[in-house]
Amino acid sequence: MILRVALNTLAVASVAVAQATTYQAEAATLSGVTIGASVAGFSGTGYVEGFDTASDSITFTINSTTSQLYDLKIIYNGPYGDKYTYVVLNNAGGSQVSLPATSAWVTVPAGQVLLNTGSNTIQIQNNWGWYLIDAITLSPAAKPGPHQTTTVPVNTNANSDTRALLKFLGSIYGKKTLSGQQDQASLDWVTQNVGKTPAILGLDLMDYTESRISRGAVSTDVDKAIDFAKKGGIVTFCWHWGAPVGLYDTADHRWYSGFYTDATDFNIEAALADTTNANYTLLLKDIDTIAVQLKKLQNASVPVIWRPLHEAEGGWFWWGAKGPEPAKKLWGIMYDRLTKRHGLNNLIWEWNSIKQSWYPGSETVDIVSADTYTQGDHGPISATYNNLLALTNDTKIIGAAEIGSVMDPVQLQAYQADWVYFCVWSGDYISGGSWNSLDLLKSVYSSDYVLTLDEIQGWKNSSL
Ligand SMILES: *[C@@H]1O[C@H](CO)[C@@H](O)[C@H](O)[C@H]1NC(C)=O
Ligand SMILES: *[C@@H]1O[C@H](CO)[C@@H](O)[C@H](O)[C@H]1NC(C)=O
Ligand SMILES: *[C@@H]1O[C@H](CO)[C@@H](O)[C@H](O)[C@H]1NC(C)=O
Ligand SMILES: *[C@@H]1O[C@H](CO)[C@@H](O)[C@H](O)[C@H]1NC(C)=O
Repeated sequence: MILRVALNTLAVASVAVAQATTYQAEAATLSGVTIGASVAGFSGTGYVEGFDTASDSITFTINSTTSQLYDLKIIYNGPYGDKYTYVVLNNAGGSQVSLPATSAWVTVPAGQVLLNTGSNTIQIQNNWGWYLIDAITLSPAAKPGPHQTTTVPVNTNANSDTRALLKFLGSIYGKKTLSGQQDQASLDWVTQNVGKTPAILGLDLMDYTESRISRGAVSTDVDKAIDFAKKGGIVTFCWHWGAPVGLYDTADHRWYSGFYTDATDFNIEAALADTTNANYTLLLKDIDTIAVQLKKLQNASVPVIWRPLHEAEGGWFWWGAKGPEPAKKLWGIMYDRLTKRHGLNNLIWEWNSIKQSWYPGSETVDIVSADTYTQGDHGPISATYNNLLALTNDTKIIGAAEIGSVMDPVQLQAYQADWVYFCVWSGDYISGGSWNSLDLLKSVYSSDYVLTLDEIQGWKNSSL
């Protein structure tokens, strides 16, 4: 159901040629590591090596005369194979940075850092260890130009509700973010405890599919969507699609986990290999079944931010288990069947993987998104945002479709991580207190930058 892994590692470097300042590792504060000079080609008087223990680190202290966003790069050598390091700014949060194997000194982008006025620290922590660090560079991040995003749906028959929704998202993109909450009960918890109602309700078509209905599952999520839309809200649906056949249904892998790769032997690649295969037919049948539900929403004038085949690139769901090609193929089949055969013109097609090789293409995708769970980090997830910007060359609006920890609106703006909406996952993620404290939720929900249900009333006819 969710992604707990920090998938993405580093921000795509800004294209700007800004003046870079270099900070030599050998001049920084070293802990558990040593200065070396035997691998030629380094800058300064040496490099730092001996990353072999979890607590090993280099700490750079950097004074800044202003509060400003910088692109960070690392100059390293990787003679011991592919490694990851971990970069932490001012002792908070942090991001993993990939250091691919190399026998030369190379420079890699390592995300962005927002320096405070005065003294700051950038710490390189061991993580996988076994790499050589020569230096870091900081250059002022270029102010990105205006977004190039399209706000016309890819489905040329998209209805007026859907057109209005994508246009509305475009009108707030880069200026505001829409608050969102997965699951009706969790949304109600927000209303009661935070004192504001999210603008977006996240729902699931999970329990409308044959493999689950036949085992007793029932759902009222479609009715909830219609009710929430009547209150002026926006809805998004994912689909934890239980495999149509081949569920193990053992004590370790119960039938209700049937969307997980490890709970079924359903083989998407084999099923899609030929259209006469019985399993191909079963996939179409499931798509036809959920089409009935989506049709109810269309009939009730409810446009849907529609996020099927989510987290495909993670591989933990059967639709992503055989790599990008079958997943993209299934996306195309679903797009055609729902739009053309079923005449569903109320869908905003939301893709939910980051890697270029998984992208189904701009012809069938309206917006792109990612799911991120990092407990205790309320940062802007800007490296992931920047990866999504690069994925479509800034042609599609970007959403944070599932998050565990809410993002600090001040940092969202400072890092220009323009997530058009966020949707916190259900249950303990929102109400348990450990992923998000109630005080923090109250402060996020009262931010001017964060739009709530009361603030988006009439969105179909207006732009904020
Ligand atoms: C940074 O600023 C502090 C004062 O705020 C000063 O003591 C220190 O020497 C400065 N360090 C560097 C590397 O410029
Ligand atoms: C369909 O999938 C099931 C479950 O993986 C498998 O046992 C069966 O052999 C497949 N059928 C065909 C015709 O490939
Ligand atoms: C479509 O909506 C109308 C009211 O607008 C309702 O009477 C009808 O039952 C709905 N049909 C379906 C299939 O939901
Ligand atoms: C990305 O967009 C920019 C500006 O719209 C354009 O100049 C550039 O050619 C595009 N690059 C690619 C790879 O599409």
